[in-house]
Amino acid sequence: MPSSSPRSPWSAFLQLLRRLRGKLAAKIIFSQRLNRWVYPTPEPDVEPTQNERYREFNRSYFAQFYEQEKMLADKPRMDFYYAAIARHIKPGDRVIDLGTGTGILAAFASRRGASKVYAIDHSVVLEHAKTLAAHNRIENVEFVSTHSKDLRLDAPVDVILHEQMGDYLFDEDMVTNITDLRDRLLKPGGLILPSRFELFCEPVKVRDTRFVPHMWDLNVHGIDYSCMDRERPQDPHYYHIPAADLGYIDYLLSNASPVLTLDLGTLKSATDLPTELRFTRTITRAGRLDGYVVYFRALVDDDLSLNSSPLDADRATNWGYRILRTDRDHLAEGDVIDITLTISHWPDVDTWRWKHVKALHPEPVTTR
Ligand SMILES: C[S@@+](CC[C@H](N)C(=O)[O-])C[C@H]1O[C@@H](n2cnc3c(N)ncnc32)[C@H](O)[C@@H]1O
Repeated sequence: MPSSSPRSPWSAFLQLLRRLRGKLAAKIIFSQRLNRWVYPTPEPDVEPTQNERYREFNRSYFAQFYEQEKMLADKPRMDFYYAAIARHIKPGDRVIDLGTGTGILAAFASRRGASKVYAIDHSVVLEHAKTLAAHNRIENVEFVSTHSKDLRLDAPVDVILHEQMGDYLFDEDMVTNITDLRDRLLKPGGLILPSRFELFCEPVKVRDTRFVPHMWDLNVHGIDYSCMDRERPQDPHYYHIPAADLGYIDYLLSNASPVLTLDLGTLKSATDLPTELRFTRTITRAGRLDGYVVYFRALVDDDLSLNSSPLDADRATNWGYRILRTDRDHLAEGDVIDITLTISHWPDVDTWRWKHVKALHPEPVTTR
């Protein structure tokens, strides 16, 4: 018979801990704060920069089938690119397709007679692009798994093809990526498809049934929330409403016109974008101002463009649009508002700030 020695209080305590371990582990894993405290993640030697973090996000985002499917199913988008390539890529052209995704634009260019297409992507989606190209007998395409800034070629190309537009136009780092490739790898006089863009930022009223006021503007069955004004969130995300469906917008309060136009063929670099835009709007339809709706238009020719306007039935469907929320304001027909948009870093929408002031009504002219 094994002899059983009396257990010390310490070993009894350890045994109890061991029994509780399973339960504790589950609790620790589910409680994020506890988890971080018990299993601290070793600090990386060097913090990733904002650019590196964005690239990592972009790579995994576009690796998802659904993200690629949405773009391919967007008929206005695909028709726009198909027509642009048919019009502007000539047999024999050498082309870079920056961010080829499933390789669709490279395939269009190849079918158009390009002598060589460098189809580059930093995401694993490139493996699917290779399968698709083989399946469709697409020729003259070289797939390169790289970020554009690391692409090196022996000779410059005639055309840079791309679709680098984010919902806020700039948030996929389009300007930096394209101007870098242009300066290093595009022939003088070469073409960027698309290269011309217009950004819109228009005063908007949201449909009453969909409108969500700021908390400090609420009064719910006599419970007044105005004191919440002192506790406005600091998180910039709170002031951006992402939307995609057309039923959300009621109407624009004024006539739309671009607040910024740019041409990637001539813009020197991303640092040449303005850091402040000031523009005025004359109210043509009275109503509650809920914010500014941000959308864009890409132009290849005067009769060939693509737009993400929420008020256009022919809009490209895979882009959402954004509403930059404002404090509640009611505007009358004829009111003029001065709007200022300041941006320290265009691709980072958290750095966008906006405000408006009402211009004084001009004195009515009286005649004797
Ligand atoms: C909006 S998708 C467009 C995909 C495809 N061109 C199309 O039209 O369906 C952008 C693609 O570019 C890739 N991408 C974004 N920035 C890139 C960069 N700087 N270098 C290489 N690939 C990039 C993403 O991984 C993604 O697959």
